[in-house]
Amino acid sequence: MTSVDGLRLEWRGAFDNRELNVLHAEGFGGPVRDDDWVAQVEGHSLGWVTARDAGRLVGFVNVAWDGGVHAFLLDTLVTGPFRGRGIGARLVEAAVDASKAAGCEWLHVDWDGALAAFYLDACGFRPTEAGLIQL
Ligand SMILES: CC(C)(COP(=O)(O)OP(=O)(O)OC[C@H]1O[C@@H](n2cnc3c(N)ncnc32)[C@H](O)[C@@H]1OP(=O)(O)O)[C@@H](O)C(=O)NCCC(=O)NCCS
Repeated sequence: MTSVDGLRLEWRGAFDNRELNVLHAEGFGGPVRDDDWVAQVEGHSLGWVTARDAGRLVGFVNVAWDGGVHAFLLDTLVTGPFRGRGIGARLVEAAVDASKAAGCEWLHVDWDGALAAFYLDACGFRPTEAGLIQL
């Protein structure tokens, strides 16, 4: 666990489904769902990073995994009032460090819109060619 400006960042930190569903709905839009995030990430992810301010979940990132050397960043989220303070970049940095420590060699990410400045400039990803099919 690390502390950054009063925030607690934790790899595989405990969370409950309700607080992550609220954060997810705020970040990606739409209604607050009833998804079982705890089962999903415990069953399928290498790990995740939580950011808490005085106990409140204010940030999250999920590191999906192929079981080998590839991991994939998903669900990068910081709640509105906490954006623009470097928390998103610190969440990603913690995910990078933990993925490297777990033996992964590649961390992938993709994004929509204007987030190149975030992932490339602030988080250190290099651009690559990639493809996507909506199933
Ligand atoms: C994307 C997100 C996680 C960034 O979190 P954050 O804590 O605000 O990011 P940081 O403060 O670490 O940003 C670092 C830098 O990245 C860039 N950046 C961050 N958010 C950006 C955005 N929405 N658009 C363009 N550049 C952005 C800026 O250069 C920023 O530096 P600055 O604040 O000095 O200008 C947050 O805006 C969010 O939760 N968005 C909604 C959900 C989402 O779209 N997630 C990404 C899915 S791929």
